[in-house]
Amino acid sequence: MRGIFIAFEGVDGSGITTHSRLVAEKLKKAGMKAVYTKEPTDSDIGKLIKSTIYKERIDSRLLALLFATDRLYHVLYGDGKNEGILKLLEKGFIVICDRYKYSSFAYQGVYQPEGWVRRINQFAPNADIIVYLDVPIEVVMRRIRERERKSVFEEKAFLKEVKKRFRYTLKRAEKEGARVVMVNELESNKRSIRSIEEVNSEIVEKITAIMNELESNKRNVEGDKNVKDDNDGVLEKMIR
Ligand code: TYD
Repeated sequence: MRGIFIAFEGVDGSGITTHSRLVAEKLKKAGMKAVYTKEPTDSDIGKLIKSTIYKERIDSRLLALLFATDRLYHVLYGDGKNEGILKLLEKGFIVICDRYKYSSFAYQGVYQPEGWVRRINQFAPNADIIVYLDVPIEVVMRRIRERERKSVFEEKAFLKEVKKRFRYTLKRAEKEGARVVMVNELESNKRSIRSIEEVNSEIVEKITAIMNELESNKRNVEGDKNVKDDNDGVLEKMIR
C-alpha cells in the first residue's frame, strides 16, 4: 500500500528539525516503516543552496529555481542518503520531510510572484499531512540570535511576512486535500512555552489519528478489508 507523506513547516527557529526528527524516531521505535528527510537536501544541488544562503543574497529567481530543482531531485532520486520520495512512498514508507514546497511558496513568494513559484514546483507531489509549528516571531528571533550560523532569511520583518504567507499557503493546501496539523508552542495562557516533549507528543497523537483515518479510507476505497501492510496494527496501538 502507498505510504504517507508528511511535511513539517514553519518559519526559521520554530523547531521543525527537532520535532520532525523526534517524530520519525518515535514512529520507528513503534515498529513503523518511517524515514526522515530534509530540504535543502544533501544532494549536490542542496549543498549548492546551503553554500549560498549562509553567505550572501543571490538573485531571488535563481534561488527559487534552485529550491525547485533540489526538490524535484529529492522527489525522483533522493536526498543524497535515501531513495527518492516517490520510491519510498511506493514501498509503503511514512516519509517525514523537514521543509518542503510550502516553504518555497511562503519564502520565495515574498520576492517572486507566487503563481510562478507554484508553477516551477508543479512536479512536486502534495503532502498528505502538513505539520505547521506556530511560534511567535519574538520567540524565533530570540532563538535565531543565539545561533552561530545565520541564513539570509533570518530577519524579523522578512519572517513576519513569511509567517503571513504560510497562513494562506496552508489554507490553500487544505483546500487541495492536505490535512493540516497546527501546533502551538505556547501554553494556552499565551505566556509560557511548552516543553519539547509535550509539543511533540501532541504532534504524534494528531498525526497518528489522521494516518489511521487515511489508512481506513484507503482500505474502503480499495474495497479490500484484508489488505495487509507493514504499518497496520502499529498505528492503532499508537493511539492511546
Ligand atoms: P536550514 O539551515 O535547513 O534551516 P531550517 O533548519 O530552519 O530549515 O535552511 C533552510 C533555509 O532555507 C530556511 O531559512 C528556509 C529556507 N527555505 C526556503 O526559502 N525555501 C525552500 O523551499 C526551503 C526548503 C527552505
